[in-house]
Amino acid sequence: MSYPPQTSPPAATVPDILIGAKKAPASTPAPAKIPSITGVGLKSDHYRDILDASPGENTEAGWFEIHAENYMGEGGAPHAYLSAIRERFPLSIHGVGLSLGSNGPLDDAHLKRLKGLVERYRPGLISEHLAWCSAGGTFFNDLFPVPLTHETLRKVGDHINQTQDYLSRRILIENPSTYLKTVDDEMSEPEFLELLCERTGCGILLDLNNVAVSCANKAENTADYLAHFPGADVGEIHLAGHSIDKGHDWELRIDDHGSRVSQEVWALFGTFCERWGPRPTLIEWDTDVPAFPVLLEEAGKARDIMQNAAAFGPLMGNAHAVTR
Ligand SMILES: [Fe+2]
Repeated sequence: MSYPPQTSPPAATVPDILIGAKKAPASTPAPAKIPSITGVGLKSDHYRDILDASPGENTEAGWFEIHAENYMGEGGAPHAYLSAIRERFPLSIHGVGLSLGSNGPLDDAHLKRLKGLVERYRPGLISEHLAWCSAGGTFFNDLFPVPLTHETLRKVGDHINQTQDYLSRRILIENPSTYLKTVDDEMSEPEFLELLCERTGCGILLDLNNVAVSCANKAENTADYLAHFPGADVGEIHLAGHSIDKGHDWELRIDDHGSRVSQEVWALFGTFCERWGPRPTLIEWDTDVPAFPVLLEEAGKARDIMQNAAAFGPLMGNAHAVTR
């Protein structure tokens, strides 16, 4: 899917105390494992909702996730707000532009900017996609799928190793939303991700909306997908909404992150939590972003499902997120 850049808030809304803050304040906490609670994707529309809340309010949003590329500039209001939010909450940095699935080398300048963000904000989680979005120096505003082959496994594995070595941090890799079957596939997506974890020590960001979208578009079964998924490697879960495009004799699910989580995805989330236990879980909403309370409602639903599952304990006996 495409991830539109965030719009900056009007300068007049930036608190005077924050204007000019170019570095994380000395009080920025050290990286901490994000617990298995609910978080919300951070949008500039909601900066004030978050910062103006009293302690004990908005408890459904226990942490926030940013798109790394929205904060790769040096200063300004976005960093001022993010620094203030980071002082109060754990943070996850989710990259959308590293292009781990590219044939060519990683962009050193992009990697350097990512490392700068990681050092500045000390996130509890860092993630990227099993996808490519650049070729020959040209960047695209989409995440394209990779063929699930042994050659891709080697190539993406090398890029993940390079990234983890450079950041000195483990990263999570997100399963993509896809729209077509790749004829060259030599293995299933769960198998590919499991091998990737074995070879690199990375973890998985399991996007359950992407599972629903991809399986529907490729006429595959979501239960089969989850039954073969390496759940112990999952360090974070994404929940989002999608739209459905319909023609006379066809239907395509579009991963647009512009609506509430579908009933099908809630059911998949319940299945995962019952089987593997809860994980840090994020509500993603990137287009037609609603008022902050709507995101809190969605996060509250996720929290209820996680708590119900936790009450019985995971069937697979692995309730711990694989973050470090
Ligand atoms: Fe996602």
